Amino acid sequence: MKNIKAIIFDAYGTLFDVNSAAEKCKDRIGEKWEPFSNFWRTTQLEYTWLRSLMGRHKDFWQITEDSLDKSMKLFKIKPSMREELLNLYKVLSPFKEVHETLKILKEKNFKLAILSNGTPSLLKKLVKSSNLENLFDDIFSIEEVGVYKPNSKVYDMPIKKYKIKKNEVVFLSANTWDVSGGGNYGYQAIWVNRNRNIFDNLDYKPKYEIKDLSGLLDKF
Ligand code: 2OP
Repeated sequence: MKNIKAIIFDAYGTLFDVNSAAEKCKDRIGEKWEPFSNFWRTTQLEYTWLRSLMGRHKDFWQITEDSLDKSMKLFKIKPSMREELLNLYKVLSPFKEVHETLKILKEKNFKLAILSNGTPSLLKKLVKSSNLENLFDDIFSIEEVGVYKPNSKVYDMPIKKYKIKKNEVVFLSANTWDVSGGGNYGYQAIWVNRNRNIFDNLDYKPKYEIKDLSGLLDKF
């Protein structure tokens, strides 16, 4: 890829494993930990889209709590687990290749940033607990524009700050709809297909499909 001025990463699901909170409690939740975790994530995302469409914004942490409450009821998870799951969500594990890949890209002098639905304080805490501080030039949170992905105001933030063209950004996400969102906006979007998923039919084909972030290294 040529003439790239910035490499921008989605956070949840791309850098940080959203299933790691429930997985760390699987001894007590039992076999249903994974469907429960997937339902929590899906509900959380639906709430972001619905709140943006309704024009009734709540921040990502409140949405994470609201979606957890619904999921715990459906999966009959003991109410005493609520605090533990939420605390673990604040320190989600990074995927194993993330640190090394970012370090190599940083050494190549690329501008690196996060662009996420998370609040500034959640994202700061995640970056700190994963020892990824000093690797990012910026952490862009949708709280600055008050609407969730895939609204174009979100993808506009780095373009405005860096004064670069849309196609000078490489955007990476493991969330298919976010790749479609960034790609339709004008980024060169790459799909991190961690779970051998099927891509969406939303008017955009990813520039590349990689199975984890290390697949990015031979693209420059
Ligand atoms: C993020 O914005 C979409 O959850 C994803 O970090």
